[in-house]
Parts: sequence; structure tokens; C-alpha cells
Amino acid sequence: MAWWLIVLIILGALLFCIALYDTLQASDPILRNFPVVGHFRSLLSTSGPKLRQYIVAANDEERPFSRDQRTWVYSTASGHNAYVGFGTDSVIDRGSHIIIKQSAFPDTTPTGENAPLPCAKVMGAWRDRTHKFRPESVVYVSAMSYGSLSARAVEAINRGCAITGSMQNTGEGGVAYPHRNGGKLIFQFGTGYFGCRNTDGTFSLDALLETVGSAEVGCIEIKLSQGAKPGLGGVLPGKKVTPAIAKARGVEMGQTVYSPNRHSAFDDVDGLIDFIEMIANATGLPVGIKSAVGQQNFWDELAGRMAARSEGPDFITIDGGEGGTGAAPLAFSDHVSLPFREGFARAHKPFVHAGLHQHIIFAGSGRLGFPAEALLAFSMGADMIGLAREPMLALGCIQAQRCHDGHCPTGITTHNKWLVRGLDPADKATKLANYLVGLRGEILKLSHACGMVHPALVTADMIELIDEPHRSATIAELFDIDASFPSINAEQEQAIQQIMSELGSAATTAR
Ligand SMILES: Cc1cc2nc3c(=O)[nH]c(=O)nc-3n(C[C@H](O)[C@H](O)[C@H](O)COP(=O)(O)O)c2cc1C
Repeated sequence: MAWWLIVLIILGALLFCIALYDTLQASDPILRNFPVVGHFRSLLSTSGPKLRQYIVAANDEERPFSRDQRTWVYSTASGHNAYVGFGTDSVIDRGSHIIIKQSAFPDTTPTGENAPLPCAKVMGAWRDRTHKFRPESVVYVSAMSYGSLSARAVEAINRGCAITGSMQNTGEGGVAYPHRNGGKLIFQFGTGYFGCRNTDGTFSLDALLETVGSAEVGCIEIKLSQGAKPGLGGVLPGKKVTPAIAKARGVEMGQTVYSPNRHSAFDDVDGLIDFIEMIANATGLPVGIKSAVGQQNFWDELAGRMAARSEGPDFITIDGGEGGTGAAPLAFSDHVSLPFREGFARAHKPFVHAGLHQHIIFAGSGRLGFPAEALLAFSMGADMIGLAREPMLALGCIQAQRCHDGHCPTGITTHNKWLVRGLDPADKATKLANYLVGLRGEILKLSHACGMVHPALVTADMIELIDEPHRSATIAELFDIDASFPSINAEQEQAIQQIMSELGSAATTAR
């Protein structure tokens, strides 16, 4: 018999079996009614999001990141030319388009080698913490746990951060071996107290001291909530608790672990301040909080109690509702907590009124890993920006949106050995470093265009949003920000001006 006839018979038999199965099964009416061809529907709906980005979508469509944004990250990370030719293809007079108003007299300070961009404030200075420090980079990699990320992704991030002097936030999964590759850490813990817990899941100071002593931890972040899923607990299924994850988190291997939706170590604002002070005193490290913005009374009370007690967090990270996550229910991601700009403005205001905003470092996160968006955050009062998914793009993420199901095709958010194999930590560390340096360089160029040596000096009246033709407003007007309350005081301004000019002249001399 001819070979092609054999193939045809096998194919026919296969199709017959599929058709029989489809007709007899009862769970999917489409397959029951349209045996065999019905499978194309699910094939197209699963591959649709992946194909759309290559074939159908325009450059500035798609969420969370448009093709233009992804291309900019990919080019910057690969060290390719990220410039565009011919002019913008964006519609720039509507849709909350960001317009940065340049000065007639731009700043001329040269940019240092690798675009160093230290923070304009010293973290922990207000409370005079033993290990206070000036963050070397205003840009850092935001919280993503070992667990939600693969070990190779965590290693690549840590190494990329070490190259650029940026910090890496551990996320709430404890400190693991790939975190120890030279990059400075923000150790984060949440309601599960991973890396600082007793066996019953309550907070343990001894375990915290052991964890922060075991790695290069610069500061500690207590996570109250994150933008993508505020007010929600979490479950880590036992099958995901590998020996390395169990060790990092301080839990039993193979056992399902639950994080409650609120902390058990404190109940109210004063309790939170006491808890922060206790940890800062025991470790000597600056201690901050991370939260998405919901009900306003929390922020008003926190600023009020901090002013009254002269105690409290050294830094506050505000995460926007548009923030990313490893996994969350859609209703939480879409509807709980305010987006970054609205949330940051509301949370920041009581600290300005209490005269505290120049003492505390404010960090922001929520799709800020692009030059104009980052500058806008600085103009609102942010001192640092945390980036999660943009660094994932630099690591090769294709926005397949499979972070939650273990099938991330790029090996970043999966523990599947085959998929992780494709991620080379050394190569991706360089790509991440290129991206972080490229972003800092562009933030600096934009600040210089505004006539400022550092983004902390860019104020909310220097940036506008255009919503529709002939209708625009400054960030100051839109978010009721008093641009005459600068985010740094005269002493901080003088110090950062000197640092920037020294970094610039060091680079010029080296050239
Ligand atoms: C895979 C993944 C895991 C995350 N894990 C944490 C976490 O453990 N703790 C936390 O506070 N935020 C977590 N986040 C949120 C990010 O830290 C960040 O706040 C948010 O994604 C906004 O930044 P982006 O828009 O630059 O991604 C995670 C985000 C992603 C994408």
C-alpha cells in the first residue's frame, strides 16, 4: 500500500475518534454540536492574544503595554537604537497624552557613565536609622517573589541590579539563593510573614533578623497591599512549595500555605507605627510600607499620627490599581483600588499638609517604566519608581499573560524546567542593566530639557495632560498639587545638585 494512503487512513481514524469523543461528551455544547471543527474555536481563542500583538494591533493599542512601549523596552534592553524616525505616529492631542513643557534654557550638566541617578533623599535620615543610606538609583525593580518568578529570572534581576546599582525588591516570598548575586535588596514581607514567621504563621523577629542578616538587605518593606489585588489573601498550593521555596519562605515543603487578607502583627495605625519602629530599632534598617490607595482615612490618620509622634515609615510605596501580579481575580485587578496618578496624589497630600513629605521617600509603581510616565510620577512627588513588568519585558517577556498558570513561554514566571531552560541569567542580566541605564538616561534627558539637573526638581506645573483637542491641564491643576511645595528642601536640593555635577564631571574626565 502507498505510504500516503497509510497516512490518510491514520488521519481519518484519528479524526473519527475525535469526532466520536466530541459527540459523546457532555461538557462542551460547541464540540458536541460541531465535532472536530469546534476545536478551532478554543485554539484561536487561546492563541488570539499572542497573534494579535504581531498581526492585528496598532502600535499604540494593547494593554497593559502597547507595541510601541514593548518595542522601546526591547530595543533599549538589547542595546539597539531606540530612536524613531519621521516623527510621532501617536495622536498627541487627546487621550490623556503626556506633554512635558521644556525650558528655553535646558540644564547642561553632563550625564555620568551608565546614567547614574541617585535618589535626592537619604532613606532613613528623618528617623536617623543606623543603616540610613542614599539609594544609588531612583529606579528599582519592584516586588516580585521567588515563586511567582523562576530562580533564573530572580538571578538575572539580581545581577542586572548589581550592574546598575539599582535595588531589587524580593516580593513577599522571602530571600532565596538567586537573590544573592550582588544586587542590593529591599526585603518585603506581607501578611504571610514569609521569611520572618513562626510555624503558626505569626510574625517572628528572630526569623526576620536571620533573614536580613543572610543577604545584602538595604531596607525592609511591609506590604499592606498591592494594586492588582488589595485586601485579598493568598494561597500557595502545596505542589508549588518546592524545597527551595519552602526554605526561602520558612514553610513546610509540599504543604499548602495561606496568607490572610490583613496583618496579624498590628490592628490600627498606631500599631503599624509601633511595629515599624520596633523592626527599625532591632535591625537598624530603614523600614517602609507598600500599599495601594483605597479609603482616604488611612492616609490622613497615618500622616497625622506620624506628625504627632515624629515616628513612622522611612518610605512609602504607592502601587497603582493598574499594577501587575502573578495571579489575581479579575474583579480585584480591574476594580479594587485607585490608579497610580489618582491614588498617589490622594495619599501624598496629607503628608504635604503635615510637613512630612520632604522627610519620607515616596516610591511609586504602576506602569511607570517609560521616560515620560516616570517623569510625571516625579513631578507628583515620587522620589523613586519601582518597576516589575517592564523589567520582565527586558528579560524577554512577550506579554503572553500566562503568569498565573505555570506556562510562561519565556521561563520568567514558571518553574517548568523545560521553559526555564531557555532563560540565560547572564544574558538577561545584561539586558536588564541596559534597560535600567537607558531609562535613567532618558529620564535625565527629559529633566534637563525642563531645565532641571534631577527629576526631583521637575514640578507638577511642568507637565500637562491633553484629553481632547484644545483641552489640556497641568498635573498641578488636575490633581490639586501645590507646585510651590517642592518634594525636596533647599538642603536636599543643594546636595543632589552637587552629586549630579560630580557624577557628570567624573564621566567627562574619564572620556
Ligand atoms: C509576577 C509578579 C509578581 C508580583 N509579586 C508581588 C509581590 O510579591 N509583592 C508586591 O508587593 N507586589 C508584587 N507585584 C506587583 C509589582 O511589584 C508592582 O507593584 C506592580 O506590578 C506595578 O508595577 P509595573 O506596572 O511596573 O508592573 C508583582 C507583580 C508581578 C507582575
